[in-house]
Amino acid sequence: MNTGGAGFSRRAFLGAGAAISGLALLAPTRTGMARAAAPFEPTRTVRLAAGHMEMKLLGPDKPASRVLAYDGIPFQTLRLPRGTRLQADFVNGLDEGSTLHFHGIRMPNEFDGVPTLTQPLVQPGGRFVYRIPLDDPGTFFFHPHCDETGQVGEGLAGVLIVEDPRDPAFDAEHVLCLKDWRLAEDGSFLAMSEPDGASKAGTFGATRTVNGAASLALTAPAGGHARLRILNLDSTRVMDIGAEGGKAAGFEAWLIAVDGHALKPVRLDDLPDGIWRMGPAQRIDLDIRMPADGSPVTLGDYRAADIYAFATLTAEGRVQKPRKGPLALPRAELPRADLKKAGRLSFTLQQATDQAVKDLALPADDPLAKALIDSLCVGSTTYWGIQSESWPTGANRSLPPPLARMEEGASYAVTIKNETRFPHPVHLHGHAFEVLTSSLGRLPRHWADTVLVQPGEAVDVAFVAAPGDWVFHCHILEHMETGMMGWFRIV
Ligand code: C2O
Ligand code: CU
Repeated sequence: MNTGGAGFSRRAFLGAGAAISGLALLAPTRTGMARAAAPFEPTRTVRLAAGHMEMKLLGPDKPASRVLAYDGIPFQTLRLPRGTRLQADFVNGLDEGSTLHFHGIRMPNEFDGVPTLTQPLVQPGGRFVYRIPLDDPGTFFFHPHCDETGQVGEGLAGVLIVEDPRDPAFDAEHVLCLKDWRLAEDGSFLAMSEPDGASKAGTFGATRTVNGAASLALTAPAGGHARLRILNLDSTRVMDIGAEGGKAAGFEAWLIAVDGHALKPVRLDDLPDGIWRMGPAQRIDLDIRMPADGSPVTLGDYRAADIYAFATLTAEGRVQKPRKGPLALPRAELPRADLKKAGRLSFTLQQATDQAVKDLALPADDPLAKALIDSLCVGSTTYWGIQSESWPTGANRSLPPPLARMEEGASYAVTIKNETRFPHPVHLHGHAFEVLTSSLGRLPRHWADTVLVQPGEAVDVAFVAAPGDWVFHCHILEHMETGMMGWFRIV
């Protein structure tokens, strides 16, 4: 990983007002609601340069593919202690605009990475400085927030692990990034989106990988506890993650965190179908107790008839003093909504018809009223909407009014209803919300930043509103780019 390179030394931040206003020029705050910059002293600086590289995704003897990565490291992983003040100097080495979005991190709105709404698009060759407080421990990731079907589809994403010194000590730990690729036999990319996919379940990739390989051979000591951080970094695919340890004595798999946040450990076997259903952008942490007799454990996606076994954990060594488990993570420390006083809102996910796409605009006195959505960041067609409104696509490029206006610090209970025939992983920027109930009764109460809402399902979530303009969208990237996105204004 590259550090430094920003042209700003750490010393320059220590109290020097001039240096801070210099930075403010580099990282312009969004118009309108700009707040006085709180003093931010980075404790860690990284440079993240987006660019091309070659990867052999089809197999070792097959042609390579020209993919995208930060600093030439596929799924680059940043591991930082809780409390880090992260300065990320983004350099756009692509031939189109891009930005960095730290998915799931609670942060000042101006560093959220949504072009137009929170910052200008970073043009090719351009830079942007992000200042991100890492206060919540867990498994997160970062990705661009422009032409996501293209950029994320071609691999542009990194992993951010915020470590908590209070976590129990595991006997092994592995990070697994699941992502499919849309590749032709010569290694080149197929079209990332087809109308039939974009308007339905999405356009799937046929080359399935974990950390860029067809499968992983991992190890953990017999009788020990392995922590698996599993990220669905695919643009499209919903996965049913399960673990198989046969009848071996001692084998057990617990879900211990969702989207980075601890939950009361639940045995995978006690969940419906013995799996955790995970849409694009969702993450889980599992505690796998390895069989005492040294037999292996297999991890798989059980959603398709064709099970995708993406990793095998083989015993290597043996723990001296086996711990029963589960090894629970410390309770999540997040602002919890007051449900008695919470404002109630409801949003319905819908299939859009052309007539339903209204040509709305913000009131003329809104500072963002004249903002145009950059043409690189929207799709050409509208297939989806939220609450009868669609994020503008094609030539219809003015920013729509917010889906809701909320009050900073107030509690909200929001029902997300899915009236379509397809599942949608719905993500709210800048917050962790509590998933309270599902009308299908399939979800334990847990914290998350993205929740999968099944066809016909209504899911209730609650959160304490944080100030800023935050997008709320489906993380099936084609759905987001063809209308399933809106935003909340919180003041
Ligand atoms: Cu991964 Cu708009 O987010
Ligand atoms: Cu969707």
